[in-house]
Amino acid sequence: MKSEKDKRIISSKEYDNDKTLDLSLRPKFLDEYIGQEKIKENLRIFIKAAQQRSEPVEHILLHGSHGLGKTTLAFIIANETNSNIKITSGPAIEKAGDLAAILTNLNQGDVLFIDEIHRLNTTIEEMLYPAMEDFALDIIIGKGPGARNLRIDLPHFTLISATTKASLISSPLRDRFGIVYHLNFYEQSDIEKIIKRSANILKTQINEDACSYIAKRSRRTPRVANRLLKRVRDFAQVKGNGKISLDFAKRALDMLEIDDFGLDWLDRKILEVIIDKFNGGPVGLKTIAVSVGEEMATIEDVYEPFLLRTGFINRTSRGRVATRLAYEHLGRNYIL
Ligand code: ADE
Repeated sequence: MKSEKDKRIISSKEYDNDKTLDLSLRPKFLDEYIGQEKIKENLRIFIKAAQQRSEPVEHILLHGSHGLGKTTLAFIIANETNSNIKITSGPAIEKAGDLAAILTNLNQGDVLFIDEIHRLNTTIEEMLYPAMEDFALDIIIGKGPGARNLRIDLPHFTLISATTKASLISSPLRDRFGIVYHLNFYEQSDIEKIIKRSANILKTQINEDACSYIAKRSRRTPRVANRLLKRVRDFAQVKGNGKISLDFAKRALDMLEIDDFGLDWLDRKILEVIIDKFNGGPVGLKTIAVSVGEEMATIEDVYEPFLLRTGFINRTSRGRVATRLAYEHLGRNYIL
């Protein structure tokens, strides 16, 4: 039996059931990557310049919301530079020894990708500084007056880090990245192109109007667009001849309870809780999380940014408040 989490379309990476399919949809080179034009243009130059000098590309920090393609870009950079990529994440590096093992196993020119870098603990973060700056690892051997510092040289590598929370990156760490990019939400037209490209890879025919219907409900996020496409494709395959028409797109998204704004049932539940249980707010995030039965981090990292951006809620010093748009969307009377 699938849990509510498994059924979700809008989720963070950990709940992803379609990993293999997602991998096949990921662009592997910059030319295949749709959107984020400025970033691509800059990256092409940095990559070329580094290659002309036979040096690894500078360390890169990518920040932006979930599902916008930070990991995909890291893989593309590794591909474009013919480098091996090693992948880890902030929470996975618990001890100094973990980081030392990762760094000493790198080869010249490798890309090290650290996801969720904002979750690195301070001791580990400080170990990263000389590794990034001087390609050296400082290890302290022993304790007390006899303790000695041992410096180990590391191969020149490129650190690519990703975070959804740029504000939690300390300035000493941030300053050590030569290249820092913010990934924006995508234009509707780019999401449509991504859906067409993915449908092509999945060997599925899709009508123009079905494509824009799905794109409009994809929260301007490629990961959501690809997930919706896959669910609609399942629907069209089982209920029809496999071709995605507007009718199938509508019926599949209805079944998934995705509305015209791209909100899913948990988005609406959050709004309902604020409006019906707490009189429109203000109400704290923790209280909302308990009321909807979801982890606070998921609400904060995955749901809230979209509700804020689309104007369904506002953040005040005393908590979250529902806006007129939220009342109208849920069919409630808005009384100030
Ligand atoms: N799949 C996911 N993100 C993509 C992007 N930016 N371009 C092309 N395909 C994608």
